[in-house]
Amino acid sequence: MSSTGPAAASGPPQPPVHVPVLLDRVVELLGPACAADGAVMVDATLGLAGHTLAMLEAHPGLRVVGLDRDPDARAEATRRIEAAGHAGRVTVVPAVFDELPEVLDRLGIAEVQGVLFDLGVSSLQLDRPDRGFSYSTDAPLDMRMDPGAPRTAADVVNTYPPRELARVLRVYGEERFASRIAAAIDRERAREPFAGTARLAELVREAIPAATRRTGGHPAKRTFQALRIEVNDELGALERALPAAIDALAVGGRVAVITFHSLEDRIVKQTLAAGAADRTPPDLPVPLPEHGPVLRLLTRGGEAAGPEETAGNPRAASARVRAAERIRRAA
Ligand SMILES: C[S@@+](CC[C@H](N)C(=O)[O-])C[C@H]1O[C@@H](n2cnc3c(N)ncnc32)[C@H](O)[C@@H]1O
Repeated sequence: MSSTGPAAASGPPQPPVHVPVLLDRVVELLGPACAADGAVMVDATLGLAGHTLAMLEAHPGLRVVGLDRDPDARAEATRRIEAAGHAGRVTVVPAVFDELPEVLDRLGIAEVQGVLFDLGVSSLQLDRPDRGFSYSTDAPLDMRMDPGAPRTAADVVNTYPPRELARVLRVYGEERFASRIAAAIDRERAREPFAGTARLAELVREAIPAATRRTGGHPAKRTFQALRIEVNDELGALERALPAAIDALAVGGRVAVITFHSLEDRIVKQTLAAGAADRTPPDLPVPLPEHGPVLRLLTRGGEAAGPEETAGNPRAASARVRAAERIRRAA
């Protein structure tokens, strides 16, 4: 996730102030693979192009293919890339990142040297109340990263059967009062369907036991996270995209993934660990090269941001980065 400051209270609209998370570490992890002239990096979550700009500046021969499903993010990223004088080195593509293989095919790119995923919402999305991601301001209950996508958070809240709604809140929000909240939503929506974020946030606050309202931040935080993940199929897209990104890596190419909650981190951990494992059948006496690992892990566990970064950018506190290098072609 990346951080942008809130819009100025008065005067002309200010461009968002942008603080990319774990920036130095990402540049360090991807750098060795992206330093050669003609190297290509896919920024699968271009956002406001913070990481992309740092990589372009560090490696003058690098080209970037930047994907984002959000038109506002693409517009702002394009503006920043142009302002930095790098327009000729970046291709910005409207896509969900699990379309990576098709995007590379279309661009005639057979393999890439780097792939970066910086998951979740950008602060551009969080700080724009009209996008409906935030429980702190009343706005339409939307939460789509791609405003052209068919399903909004209001659709989920107003139409999912209570059991399914409870599952979404429990699994994606790790919400222990999921069933109570789902039952309360079911009762309330029968009176009047939900349209805005404030009514939902207030209902969640009322649905959970009073004693727990005082701990763990805003009571609606977990519900809003769960709805966002469901609306944008965030985990499904990651499960499909990460293996495809590893397939697209040249030998020596590197992938880095920044996650913001344990469900994402688990998918990344398992996918990278599977690539780094030797798959020689256990009954064979010696490891076979064609069953050997295709990845070498570059991080020990999920690396967190340091205290200085977290102090300046609270959103970095939950960030974890994992990275790996491709060490051979698949058999
Ligand atoms: C945390 S921000 C990235 C910030 C970026 N690294 C920077 O430094 O500016 C995540 C971005 O990824 C986009 N995004 C999230 N999931 C996506 C997906 N499955 N496909 C394409 N874009 C996605 C969001 O729209 C958002 O703009």
